[in-house]
Amino acid sequence: MSDLGVIILAAGLGKRMKSRVPKVLHRLAGKPLLFYPLRAARELRPKRIAVVIGRGADEVRRAFDDENITWVLQEEQLGTGHAVRCAKESFRDFAGDLVILSGDVPLISPQTLSELLRWHRDRRAAVTFLTASLERPAGYGRVLRSAAGAVTGVVEDRDASEADRRIQEINAGIYAASPRSLFAALEEIGNRNEQGEYYLPDIVGVALRRGEKIETVRAADAGEILGVNTREELAAMEKTLQEKINRQWMAAGVTLKDPATTYIEEGVAIGKDTVIGPNTHLLGRTTLGEGCRIDGNAYVTDARLGNEVHLKFSVVLADCQVADKAAVGPFAHLRPGTVLGRGVHIGSFVETKQAILGEGTKANHLAYLGDVTIGGESNIGAGTITCNYDGFRKYQTKIGDRVQVGSDSTLVAPVTLGDDAYVATATTVRHDVPAGALVYNERTEKVKEGWTEQFRERHKKG
Ligand code: UD1
Ligand code: CA
Repeated sequence: MSDLGVIILAAGLGKRMKSRVPKVLHRLAGKPLLFYPLRAARELRPKRIAVVIGRGADEVRRAFDDENITWVLQEEQLGTGHAVRCAKESFRDFAGDLVILSGDVPLISPQTLSELLRWHRDRRAAVTFLTASLERPAGYGRVLRSAAGAVTGVVEDRDASEADRRIQEINAGIYAASPRSLFAALEEIGNRNEQGEYYLPDIVGVALRRGEKIETVRAADAGEILGVNTREELAAMEKTLQEKINRQWMAAGVTLKDPATTYIEEGVAIGKDTVIGPNTHLLGRTTLGEGCRIDGNAYVTDARLGNEVHLKFSVVLADCQVADKAAVGPFAHLRPGTVLGRGVHIGSFVETKQAILGEGTKANHLAYLGDVTIGGESNIGAGTITCNYDGFRKYQTKIGDRVQVGSDSTLVAPVTLGDDAYVATATTVRHDVPAGALVYNERTEKVKEGWTEQFRERHKKG
């Protein structure tokens, strides 16, 4: 089989997005649009992938930094035909077939691309392009055919007559081509159209005039070839993709109580028998083990959860690790650098940041634990605050194993509490506490009998 090269068009202005961000960097299920055609392209195992960029070129390149991509700069966006011509140099020494993808058509599957390529090779066509039938074809280029059904060309929506606009078969903007025919045809296309651009689909007419063979393949699933040109289309596609991702997780053994309000980004991993309640967001590189329970209203970004973790109702987790059988919430906030050991309990209105909690430790109510390391089996009482910041620097608190921190205590960092230490209720701890010691502040408690009545008397009006 001959070699394969892929060209992805991603230089367009994306005018209809009305954005400062290049269109191909707008996110779909958490990944930039361009991620998807790139992934599909890689599945074809091509020798080379060239991506044509222009608008926000540096930003796009940076977003795909680590990838093995030949970047092609299209300095002026003179149309899709011009964009492909810009990639000619990159395939100068290339003998195989080319596949051309659109950076803004993300749901295209590798299977469909393989079919396109197979058909193109079997038929020995000059160009083969993907088409689909759409109920609402507005905005797409329409496929023109002779009475006998042979392709005669593609007309863009803006340039189409009333009659042409009624055609439901559209050009998906995805092509297989022999480089020689392609680049020769590109030399001949003009820009006399409504947009004054060099249209890639015009190679169809040119190739036909040159007596070359044009083939089409109709996409079995029209959903795959939808393009994103507007934010409305992006939102619709987000929904479509989310539904697909949710179906995949359910098929893999995950229970979603309300798929319609479950948002799982591309790249998340979830173990079997995990049960996910409504309004759950699993984002970024989040992974969940098996048998986890998420009650609902969870916003989880880049978190690594072990097995049988219970996220109770309404929690926010970011960039943290939670070991097996830990429980978090309701109403808890785990911020970056939080590492919870096995069986740790974090209760309501507890916030953690750069906090490492050992196995079985509990902080069940109202606490701020920042820049702290806590051993195992310790108990952090309600209202405990690590005072980690003096306005200039952050300081560490270290708490040993089996430490009891009484309610309403403030731990003024840097400070260390040894193993088995006891902190009496409402203590401000400013100095290190040795293992096994009790720390308390001397305070005398006084009672004034009859005080309330006198007080009210003084404040009585008139
Ligand atoms: C294009 C096709 C249309 C097809 C539709 C399918 C053309 C002229 N029309 O229309 O027939 O039905 O896709 O989705 O090709 N781009 C560049 N450089 C440019 C212009 C565009 O790299 O100078 C890139 C864009 O970033 C985008 C892709 O090419 O990723 C398609 O461009 P776009 O302007 O979105 O074309 P459509 O109007 O959607
Ligand atoms: Ca488009």
